[in-house]
Amino acid sequence: MKVTVMGTGHVGLVTSVMFASIGHEVVGTDIDVEKIDLLRRGIPPFFEPGLEEGMARESASGRLSFTADAAEALRGTDVVFICVGTPARASGDANLLAMEQSARVVAKHAPDDTVLVEKSTVPAGTADRVRTTLEREGAGRRFHVASNPEFLREGSALEDALKPDRIVVGVESPRSLEVLRRLYAPLLDDGVELIVTDIPTAELAKHASNAFLSLKISFANAMARICERAGADVTAVADVMGADPRIGRAFLNAGLGYGGYCFPKDVAALRRLSERLGYPFPLLAEVERVNDEAVEAVAAKVEDALWNMESKRIAVLGLAFKPGTDDVRFSPSIALARRLLDSGAQVVGYDPHAGASAKEELPELELANDVYEAATEAHAIVVATDWEEFRELDLPRLRELMTYPLVVDGRNLLDSDEMAEAGFWYYPTGRPAVEPAAGAPVPSLEAAPSAPVEQRPAER
Ligand SMILES: NC(=O)c1ccc[n+]([C@@H]2O[C@H](COP(=O)([O-])OP(=O)(O)OC[C@H]3O[C@@H](n4cnc5c(N)ncnc54)[C@H](O)[C@@H]3O)[C@@H](O)[C@H]2O)c1
Repeated sequence: MKVTVMGTGHVGLVTSVMFASIGHEVVGTDIDVEKIDLLRRGIPPFFEPGLEEGMARESASGRLSFTADAAEALRGTDVVFICVGTPARASGDANLLAMEQSARVVAKHAPDDTVLVEKSTVPAGTADRVRTTLEREGAGRRFHVASNPEFLREGSALEDALKPDRIVVGVESPRSLEVLRRLYAPLLDDGVELIVTDIPTAELAKHASNAFLSLKISFANAMARICERAGADVTAVADVMGADPRIGRAFLNAGLGYGGYCFPKDVAALRRLSERLGYPFPLLAEVERVNDEAVEAVAAKVEDALWNMESKRIAVLGLAFKPGTDDVRFSPSIALARRLLDSGAQVVGYDPHAGASAKEELPELELANDVYEAATEAHAIVVATDWEEFRELDLPRLRELMTYPLVVDGRNLLDSDEMAEAGFWYYPTGRPAVEPAAGAPVPSLEAAPSAPVEQRPAER
């Protein structure tokens, strides 16, 4: 089939490569001309495992191409996937301007009988607006609207797209269902479950899923605060809870909280949608509050240990919102770094992939090339993103390099006994803090960082 993908970002580009990989002819288009230029040269605009290879393979096969000309992308198409951004407005509502713009372009250029599929995450009711736009501006041509929410995870996006847990399609016409079944046939033949619903159900199911995952994380973080006060271990509490299959262990890890492009805006959008529908859902506001508190709790531990932050150098390990990506949008690590900078600290960050995007987001952040450079003369390390490589740190070397051996673990990645043995003060999240084991030398806080300490905005 001929597939057009509008919006070639994290979802659109991965979707394009996925559909080309299973045999369809895919044309991706985007209003970002520079992005299209990169894609035409085979360069993915962001890091995602296997994506560059997938793009190269499918471009060479002739099934995958990109154009900035939407009319050209829509010529002779069977089905259009709308994968544009749906960011939050200041109110928390989803900003659906790009959805409207895409619908108008489809109305103008797509052939009769085209199926328009919402893949972007949108509030229930959006398809009605899209349909009205197509009817109003489609010059009498017939269109079919469908919803096919995306559940891929950044960091394993292509693999998730090729082997999804389930494919959800919200449809209102036999033509949409037939097209979507044919499109996904290779995955369905591999045993992937297809869930067919009406359109508002599909739209709402995506928001419900992300809100529930966020709720689990905030639940774990609230438990972490309680465990810290009760002298309990939140990881063990989560293990006990998770052993019950009715609960499940996933997404019960306490730490710096959720971030990224999806969870924060999707929780807010569902909260606003429920308010507008006359059923306020304050539980969601509480999920957001606990999540914001998670960053503050980690910052408070650093301040509690080091007292005044001026002239203190803090290394933040991990800047991406999660491992496996260079995406720093709404990253809790960036929120933490900003919070520490505002309190007067000198902050140096390291991330295996997200350094450049973090620097763009937070220009005051100093960047290091590796963990050990970041740790040099630091008064504290904060583990902020759970990259695997941070599990394998050379602790004696770190201890040697740091001015003061304090590690605050915002992802509970390290082992308390090993940290104590290596001579660290170690503050995990929702688990008892440990001190250096007997015999480890106690350093002084006197040593100042060699780099000059800038005045921070808080003092200006
Ligand atoms: N990132 C994820 O992990 C993920 C997972 C599931 C669902 N989603 C949802 O998918 C949607 C897209 O997310 P993303 O992460 O890919 O965003 P993104 O910012 O990476 O990509 C969006 C793309 O849309 C383009 N665009 C904006 N307006 C356009 C228009 N009028 N016409 C054509 N292109 C346009 C932008 O230039 C950009 O390239 C969002 O609704 C998001 O919630 C994202």
